[in-house]
Amino acid sequence: MTLASSRLLFVGCGNMGAAIINGIIAQHPKAEIVGVDPTVDRARSLLKRPDRVMLCQSLDDVKAERFDIVVLAIKPQMFAQAADEIVPLTRHALTISIMAGLKTTALRQKFESDRVVRTMPNLAAEIGDAMTVCFAEPHFISEEDRVLATELLECIGNVEWLSREADVDKATAISGSGPGYVFAIAENLIDAAVEEGLEPEVADRLVRQMLLGSAKLFAATRRSATELKVAVASPKGTTQAGLSVLENENALARLISQTVKAAHMRARELGN
Ligand SMILES: NC(=O)c1ccc[n+]([C@@H]2O[C@H](COP(=O)([O-])OP(=O)(O)OC[C@H]3O[C@@H](n4cnc5c(N)ncnc54)[C@H](OP(=O)(O)O)[C@@H]3O)[C@@H](O)[C@H]2O)c1
Repeated sequence: MTLASSRLLFVGCGNMGAAIINGIIAQHPKAEIVGVDPTVDRARSLLKRPDRVMLCQSLDDVKAERFDIVVLAIKPQMFAQAADEIVPLTRHALTISIMAGLKTTALRQKFESDRVVRTMPNLAAEIGDAMTVCFAEPHFISEEDRVLATELLECIGNVEWLSREADVDKATAISGSGPGYVFAIAENLIDAAVEEGLEPEVADRLVRQMLLGSAKLFAATRRSATELKVAVASPKGTTQAGLSVLENENALARLISQTVKAAHMRARELGN
């Protein structure tokens, strides 16, 4: 079975569910996709090709149908109350969960089905540049399922399989939540630029392009982050003056470490 020949069900068509559907349709325009979301109008507005997706308001509307792949794209907090309706839909399907924290063991027990892949994409899925990590117990899914899950997730960017499930929570705190940290830095840089007297629109454009250029350079080079940092920071120059504040008494390192620890802990809490 291939992605193009599969029948797909998305439970939840919010930011992430819609982004994944958009990615799939961009590469497989004829894919057969059904999306369930109580807020159908919002789901429709997030889809680039709503005409290619059959949208339903409730799981009850699809309970008699059979799907090859079920993608769980609801918030982890919503899962417990929707689980009973989801179970029959997953019985014959490969289930791909993008819900933060929820473990494959818990999902398998609930679903009476072993074909479960746990994944963590990120918001860059919206433009096909996500970093998605995946985990599945090797003896529970076939190579065919693994290829199918990879094929689906590659529609939104890069995919990395992890060999230990605990690492998914760690990756959640890095690549899953990471765009949020980057946008917080962008927000603060724009505010600081305006405080220094730049026009807000100019500040916004400078920060966007600076982040884009830095990300492209980082992706394109073999140099490490530390080497690149040193390359910008010439002795007694402006960058070094700025970094001397950011890195004073390891302030940035401590803040980032605490940030990642808090996100990691929250991912683990969501799974309990
Ligand atoms: N956002 C990110 O950057 C990101 C990154 C990686 C992973 N994730 C994961 O992706 C999942 C979804 O996040 P999101 O940002 O896409 O959230 P979202 O925009 O709120 O989307 C979730 C959607 O699911 C709908 N929903 C709730 N209960 C449902 C049910 N029983 N059946 C069908 N749909 C239902 C919600 O509708 P209502 O709003 O009407 O309740 C909402 O439209 C989460 O588990 C999160 O951990 C998110």
